[in-house]
Amino acid sequence: MHKPRHGFGRAFYFFGALRFSPVFEDNISSDALRKALRGTMFAENIHLFDEVGSTNSTGLEAAQAGASEGSVFIAERQTEGRGRGGNSWHSDRGAIYMSVVLRPTLPANDILVLSLATGLAVSLAVEHVCGVAPDLRWPNDIMLGEKKLGGILCEMNADASRVRHAVVGIGLNVNQGEFPPEIRESATSVFLETGKQWPRPQLIVTLLQALEAEYSPLQRSPAEVIKTCIARFEKRSSYARGKRVKVADEYEGVTNGLDERGFLRVQTATGPRLVISGGVRPV
Ligand code: BTN
Repeated sequence: MHKPRHGFGRAFYFFGALRFSPVFEDNISSDALRKALRGTMFAENIHLFDEVGSTNSTGLEAAQAGASEGSVFIAERQTEGRGRGGNSWHSDRGAIYMSVVLRPTLPANDILVLSLATGLAVSLAVEHVCGVAPDLRWPNDIMLGEKKLGGILCEMNADASRVRHAVVGIGLNVNQGEFPPEIRESATSVFLETGKQWPRPQLIVTLLQALEAEYSPLQRSPAEVIKTCIARFEKRSSYARGKRVKVADEYEGVTNGLDERGFLRVQTATGPRLVISGGVRPV
């Protein structure tokens, strides 16, 4: 199990990202990632694939077979990329498809915070590297404007008392120039939004450093960090409070913050509701 690092603040991953040369480099190499991630929980077991069914499925199989915490699975493209709610995840070349194995000590009841923390890490990393700050649509859509830039799929193996392992999968649209017609209206990439190509290795390193900066404190002092993580998510998400939304195509209301486990409060015409799963859409 990874030993938590002490004494490194949020600034550490910004520093770490600078180890990449300023020359544009989009070729993902496990050696370069390992070097740039040295000293973090993600440096030791990086698995790179040109093509795979789903990095989450690969990560889940590996975790089941005993893969250590911090193992990372990255693919250039996925043939069976999976999204939340049984949806498929369009996975052509040019994006980041990455899953990490975690062994959180959190009770299964509190696991939503892992998705929220990952959303924060992705949003901070994109802002740091690319200079645009993605919005977070509860629970784990990464948005630029009204379009989806990425998503997080957190899957776990748990019993009533503990989480055996969790696999956190991140899909981030970076350099794609176009999307198939069926998602063209709803999906975007950093390239489409900024008119520039971005170095995926630097994004991957910054993102994993940001994820460790969220995850390690959660492992050390869950009660306190869950609260601050939820508060930070609320601050960074335009969807968390005062937004009129439709929930799972069923009812409408105005969002009213997150509860202590990270579920979304929505005030409807017939009273308050708590959204536990399912997507929210702006009205
Ligand atoms: C969503 O918004 O529906 C979640 C999408 C998650 C996609 C990522 S891509 C890497 C990992 N592997 C998968 O099959 N899914 C996740």
